[in-house]
Amino acid sequence: MPNRVVVLLSGTGTLLQALIDAQRDQVLNAEVVGVVSDRMDAPGLSRADAAGIPSTVVVFRPGGDRAAWDAELTRAVADFSADLVVSAGFMKLLGPAFLAEYAGRAINSHPALLPAFPGIHAVRDALAAGVKVTGATVFWIDQGVDSGKIIAQEPVRVAADDTATSLHERIKIVERKMLVDAVNGFRVER
Ligand code: GAR
Repeated sequence: MPNRVVVLLSGTGTLLQALIDAQRDQVLNAEVVGVVSDRMDAPGLSRADAAGIPSTVVVFRPGGDRAAWDAELTRAVADFSADLVVSAGFMKLLGPAFLAEYAGRAINSHPALLPAFPGIHAVRDALAAGVKVTGATVFWIDQGVDSGKIIAQEPVRVAADDTATSLHERIKIVERKMLVDAVNGFRVER
């Protein structure tokens, strides 16, 4: 039985698309069985639709009950019977209920060489710091901000004329391959 993967996303979903494409090309030793987003308008949801993958949206409203949102998100993932959770551009910190269920079975991809430039503005922060090399990191999700144990890292050179957009696009090319490799490296016995 292939591992059942649930992808969390907030945005464009090109990392999700890399997993979908790998599955289509039969180079993913896993099945993407569901997508969960915190945004109704996340363009990545259309990618799930187009691939016939069911999705759920669990919105967190500003000022809302964070614990309730955490519990609802955890239930949404559990409804897909996930073996592995892949956070692929999910822009919210996961809470204690989620971690109680999925710590050790949840990975994240980040557009910088952690522990440098954690948080949601990693590419912009790296450019502002003037680094000549940044990159991508895949790591296990823990309770901190991009602080979990590192699984894989790849460097990406910063060009003199890079904007945050151009640099991020090159980093994402690297992230897509790393994510497929990381999913392929995960095994759960059932
Ligand atoms: C990726 O670069 C991912 O590392 C980043 O969002 C992008 C999602 O791209 N995630 C974070 O910054 C999380 N802190 P996508 O929407 O094209 O898949």
